[in-house]
Amino acid sequence: MTEIELPWVEKYRPKTLKDVMGHSEITKRLQSYVDKRNIPNLLFSGPAGTGKTSSSIAMAKELFGENFGQNFLELNASDDRGIDVVRHTIKSFARTLAFDSDFKIIFLDECDALTNDAQQALRRTMEKYTKTCRFILSCNYSSKIIEPLQSRCVIYRFKPLNGEDIESHVENIAKIEKLEIDAKAKTAINYVCQGDARKSINILQACASLESKIDEESVYSVSSRARPEQVQEMILLALQGNFLEARKKLDALMYEYGMAGEDIIKQLYRETMALEDKDLSEKAKIELVDTIGEYDFRLVEGANERIQLEALLAQFMKYKK
Ligand SMILES: Nc1ncnc2c1ncn2[C@@H]1O[C@H](COP(=O)(O)OP(=O)(O)OP(=O)(O)O)[C@@H](O)[C@H]1O
Ligand SMILES: [Mg+2]
Repeated sequence: MTEIELPWVEKYRPKTLKDVMGHSEITKRLQSYVDKRNIPNLLFSGPAGTGKTSSSIAMAKELFGENFGQNFLELNASDDRGIDVVRHTIKSFARTLAFDSDFKIIFLDECDALTNDAQQALRRTMEKYTKTCRFILSCNYSSKIIEPLQSRCVIYRFKPLNGEDIESHVENIAKIEKLEIDAKAKTAINYVCQGDARKSINILQACASLESKIDEESVYSVSSRARPEQVQEMILLALQGNFLEARKKLDALMYEYGMAGEDIIKQLYRETMALEDKDLSEKAKIELVDTIGEYDFRLVEGANERIQLEALLAQFMKYKK
């Protein structure tokens, strides 16, 4: 029987703490917990796809060996079945003794999606089982975690991965998968994924399913992103007062590339900030950031994408030189 191939994000998930790239200070400390076989409750906070779950699993593997599942429970705290189910699961897992270890580990993902009440409940749960279990809470925004939970944990902040790490990781995977990938394509993956390793691997796999030779064009196309130059051209046209041409570029992003309004706004923001001084003054940039923020909010609130994006382009025309 042929083995079913795992998605590459799983296939290339770090197996040990040493394989976790880009957070040497954090992994050093985690390693020392493992070496002493004593871990405190932990809170991992940071953007998606940067290694929070991977570091937890790697720690569990190093502590408990390949059959770490007996002593390691992964739960999604925002599970729509509610915190009661989570508590129930925790209870039955925590009740039995750890296998060949003093403690078990409970990994609670997406803790920032919990309501205040649920977090309060978790606070008691954590306390109750702290003798036999260690908790690792994971979230994208630590500000959404109530103080009492934060104070029960040692907090580690995961940053977006840097471009060099992402590019070399992509290159390594490409080599193993026998793909041909050029420098421009790697730069493009880095531009699109913005420090999210999961995204970079998913893009690579999506490109590989089309062709084993990967170029810049396929990266932008599978990720439904425009090249930075395309967005810059649109902005420059608006800044020159050429609304109709700018609008045509917008059409292309929306209908040829199939980009979502919120993604266009994000790229518009990045490329506005990247404009040279001769095209847009510092003062104008500051004002436009405020404007972009306003239009972003309107889209989140459900306003018509097309109309809002055109109106935003019209705002750029105010800064015509
Ligand atoms: N620091 C890293 N080193 C190596 N691979 C990584 C790293 N971070 C992420 N990855 C890759 O991305 C995948 C997803 O990472 P992980 O599950 O650890 O992200 P996360 O930080 O928990 O994200 P989320 O906030 O969405 O839960 C991993 O399986 C791995 O392939
Ligand atoms: Mg995770």
